[in-house]
Parts: sequence; structure tokens; C-alpha cells
Amino acid sequence: MKILIVGSGGREHALAWKFAQRPKTELFCANGNAGIAEIATLVDIKPHETDKLADFAEAENIGLTFVGGEVPLALGIVDEFEKRGLKIIGASKKAAQLEASKAFSKDFMLRRNIPTAKYKVAKSTVEAKRFLGEFDETVVIKADGLAAGKGVVVCENRFEAMTAIDELESLVGTEAMSQIVLEERLIGREVSLLLFADGKKFALMPPVRDHKRIGEGDTGPNTGGMGCVSPVPFADQNFMQKVIDRIIEPTINGFKKEQLDYKGFVFLGLIKVDNEPYVIEYNCRMGDPETEVVLPRLKNDIVALCQSLYNGSLQEQIIETDNRSCATVVAVSGGYPGDYQKGFTINGLAVAINSSESMIYHSGTKVE
Ligand code: AMP
Ligand code: GLY
Repeated sequence: MKILIVGSGGREHALAWKFAQRPKTELFCANGNAGIAEIATLVDIKPHETDKLADFAEAENIGLTFVGGEVPLALGIVDEFEKRGLKIIGASKKAAQLEASKAFSKDFMLRRNIPTAKYKVAKSTVEAKRFLGEFDETVVIKADGLAAGKGVVVCENRFEAMTAIDELESLVGTEAMSQIVLEERLIGREVSLLLFADGKKFALMPPVRDHKRIGEGDTGPNTGGMGCVSPVPFADQNFMQKVIDRIIEPTINGFKKEQLDYKGFVFLGLIKVDNEPYVIEYNCRMGDPETEVVLPRLKNDIVALCQSLYNGSLQEQIIETDNRSCATVVAVSGGYPGDYQKGFTINGLAVAINSSESMIYHSGTKVE
């Protein structure tokens, strides 16, 4: 079968690695990177060019398309493919709002009685500053739009909160960000969970812990994720049962009741506060770098999992996990997540690639 992966990061490299294990697969990736090029044919179409991707899938007779990142999902790539009768794994445009709008997802959780931090949505920076009085000094300020994991500031005091709000001034009311979300800060340990869902049923992947702040000792600004480990010992059976009962079941029921069409991964960013689970965020896709540790631990055939969403057999899929632990470390250019220089040569990859205990995933690389 011909399979198309949409994206160019480490997550898509891990997906390509997993799909490539399936015999008789012809892999394509739009637009990929230097690592993916070793196992798939790169297609020169950007992930946001959703119509062009659908044209390509039609012309090439692609049997299954798997979308990596949130941008094409929020643009409605799934709706476009399904309109043309093409099989695709991902959230519909409507369901992708769970990630694309933090206000939408907080309102969804409130309606479905899903535990999450207390919040307020402001339409302007003036209103956001007024709402500050309703929160403790340690408030969390979030831009209500896609910000690649960088639109969140966890504030230690009022001054930081005022500064974070001021920094959003030029953005409020633009296409990138319509509103500002203020949230009570929850203190606890975070865990990411990936659900594979068809809108009615779900399969649960092994839990992962993502480390988001740039600096040593959990300091500095948030990033898209600097590294992950799986399994997560504090996400024990008792905790996971609470997650299923209070978060996963109401989420899936909410999808059904609110007609949020879903065929693919739902990412739950959770926090454990005094033994109780709360949702920090939903994403409508696999995490990056979570995917890089989840897929090496997943023993199931990923094509069979994807097909089960189309033939209604998801409940028969039993997720099998490798007992070995996995960790991933993201190496970035100095300055990230702020301004940073690009174009450095990466050396020494062959040594790591030749080890049976490690893998290298590329993100945004190219061969020159
Ligand atoms: P988000 O993009 O909403 O997942 O936020 C990114 C990161 O900010 C999370 O993984 C947390 O580390 C932190 N964060 C977001 N919201 C809260 C909150 N209400 N309380 C504590 N930390 C938070
Ligand atoms: N690593 C967090 C995310 O993918 O959103």
C-alpha cells in the first residue's frame, strides 16, 4: 500500500520508521527531512498546502494518509480528503479546535465536567489585566491560538503576569490569536497520554513524561518539548483508572454528543495534583517528542491500527507495549526557543545510528 505522512519533524521521522517496518509499503512524506529521505520518497508540498496534498494523494493513489502536526488539521485537511473519498488519519477541522483554541477546549471541559484548572477568557489585554484580580499571583497566561508550544507563560508574580499580557497586545484580535486565557496554576507532576480514537472507542498508548522548559532544573521558557521518557512510574494503575473514568470516557462521550468527528490520536496533557488528574491541554495529534518514545515501545502494527478506525474494529485492538524504557533528548541550536542561528553541520550521527540501543530522529534537517 502507498502511505503518505504529512510533516517534517522528529515525530514524522518516528512515524516513517514505524510504517517502514510493514512489508510491501511504499512510503511518501510531504515535505519530510534528511532523515526521513532515507526511508521515504519526499514530496515537495508543504503541510499547510492541503488542497495540493489531496491532489497528490488522488493522483498517486495513496491508500492512507497520516497527518503529523496540528496546522493542516486546523486548516481542514481531513475534511478535504474525506470529501474526495481518500482515507486519512487525523481530527476533523471542528475537532481540531480542541487544540487550535484554548478557550474552545476549556469550554468543552467545563461542559463535559472534565477536571481542569479554573480559567477566564479575556477579549483584550485591558480585560485580561482586570481578570488578574480573580487569580493568585502565580497565574498562567495563554495565547488562544496555535503557538507551537510557545504561547504559554507560567507566571511567578503579578509583574510577570502584566508583562506576559503586554507582550500579547499586538496579537489580540489577529488571526493568530483572538483571545487571552488566564488560568489558575496547578502544581503537580505532568504526564502525556496518547489515545487512538474513532470518536466512539479508544486505545491507550503507554504514558510519557515530557520536559518542556529549556533550562537545567526545569527553568527558563517553555518549548515544544526538550525530551521525553516512557514509562512514567507515578502514572500508576490507580491514577490511570481515575484518568479513564473522569477524563477519557467523558472526552469520548463529549466527541459523540458534540459531533466532533475523530479518527486518530488525541493527546492529553495531564497533571497529577494530590493524586488527582487534571487536564492541562488537549492536542488533536501525536506529541512531539512524545511520539519518538511511544512508537519504539508500541508493538502493534500501525497500519492495522489505522485500518481499524475505518472498519469499526478498534475495540478488538489490544495495545502491546515493549517493557523496555525509552528516553529521547532533543538537541537544539543555542537560543531556542527565542531567536537562533540555523544551518550548522551535524556530525557524528553514524556512531549513534550504529548502536542497537539508540536511534536518531531528524527534525528540520537537510543534506547539502
Ligand atoms: P499548554 O500549551 O497549555 O500545554 O501549556 C504548556 C505548559 O505550560 C504545560 O505543559 C505546563 O507545563 C504549563 N502549564 C499550562 N497550564 C498550566 C496550569 N494551569 N498550571 C500549571 N502549569 C501549566
Ligand atoms: N510535546 C508536547 C506537544 O507535542 O504538544
